[in-house]
Amino acid sequence: MIKKTILITGGAGFIGSHVVRRFVTEYPNYTIVNLDLLTYAGNLENLKDIEHKPNYIFERGDIADIDFVHQLFQKYAFDGVIHLAAESHVDRSITDPFSFVRTNVYGTVVLLNEAKNAWKGKYEGKRFYHVSTDEVYGSLHDGGFFVETTPYDPQSPYSAAKASSDHFVRAYANTYKLPIVISNCSNNYGPNHFPEKLIPLCINNIMNKKPLPIYGKGENVRDWLYVVDHARAIDVIYHNAELGETYNIGGNNEWTNLNLVKKLCEIMDSKLGRAPGESAQLITFVTDRAGHDLRYAIDSTKLMSKLGWKPSVTFEQGLDITVDWYLQNQEWLQNVVSGNYEMYYETMYKQR
Ligand code: NAD
Ligand code: DAU
Repeated sequence: MIKKTILITGGAGFIGSHVVRRFVTEYPNYTIVNLDLLTYAGNLENLKDIEHKPNYIFERGDIADIDFVHQLFQKYAFDGVIHLAAESHVDRSITDPFSFVRTNVYGTVVLLNEAKNAWKGKYEGKRFYHVSTDEVYGSLHDGGFFVETTPYDPQSPYSAAKASSDHFVRAYANTYKLPIVISNCSNNYGPNHFPEKLIPLCINNIMNKKPLPIYGKGENVRDWLYVVDHARAIDVIYHNAELGETYNIGGNNEWTNLNLVKKLCEIMDSKLGRAPGESAQLITFVTDRAGHDLRYAIDSTKLMSKLGWKPSVTFEQGLDITVDWYLQNQEWLQNVVSGNYEMYYETMYKQR
């Protein structure tokens, strides 16, 4: 069995926690080091079920702290990096673009540079996997799909920062021959999604009979993928991708925001024993997001045909699992909404 030590950044976040869980459980011969700053978006409760596994290590720290990252690479001889840490919410990037530049651009360059220095040109068996977003391609207006060769056209401070980080990753491959791979994924949904994002925000508000804010007319389209299927794709790409390549990941599952929220209302009315149509009355149209991208739609043909990945659940199944998870994990949701989850690190880790 091949032993590896892999650094996963942002592993306490939504997607990162699913990736950490998958690697820790599927590969007991790997040591997984989860580096996360535990910003408002990082929540170690997401990893409660695997935190005592012998092949899992948590390190709290900032990817933009050069000295810290250097020490970490000295402490562990990493074979690979799977980089997810980022500021991820478009609305926050509109009010605070600088933190997106700091983490998403500068933080990524710190990691790239340290990997380059630590590996000293001995790249056999090494890889730096950068997890990115479909938003780098901009907004679709006239049909069609994003493919790997679609020119970059980011429209928000978030997507501009992610696009910039992708460019740096490719620049390190070109200039220093760093062995890299990039994936660009569409909108994820599933358990542990922070309730600032559309789906968990609406699930929480439907439970609590609060207004469901729809930006603009609700006509913007997103292509939704179940987060566990994204984690599976990351596993497949990490292990099988050709170095230097980019892979798009998507669910082939487009919904307007309005239809999606209506669907959620329908599912939750039935699960909560409410009258059909009751929750949909909570739908409230609010001021549109500035520069709101109209449509994202991903073509994942390359990933499916070259690496054999495909989604394992339909959208109906994934939404059903997701809504059940939130209904059964109201303590998790309460802790996030109240801010209590930030105490988890203090109580669980400070005593060690
Ligand atoms: P998230 O906001 O839920 O999690 C981000 C994690 O990064 C958090 O745990 C946070 O504490 C950590 N972090 C932030 N700044 C850090 C820093 N300076 N140092 C160390 N850790 C830091 O994000 P997510 O939705 O799980 O997204 C993860 C990655 O996937 C991001 O790179 C994002 O751009 C990308 N992505 C997300 C989606 C999506 O739909 N959510 C889709 C495609 C790609
Ligand atoms: O496409 C991938 C991207 O998907 C990721 O890179 C981002 O990290 C992730 O946050 C997500 O970005 P979006 O902006 O698409 O996700 P969000 O959940 O914020 O919004 C989804 C859609 O719903 C979008 O068109 C805006 C709209 N919206 C969102 C919120 C929070 C509303 O109408 N009302 C809301 O309250």
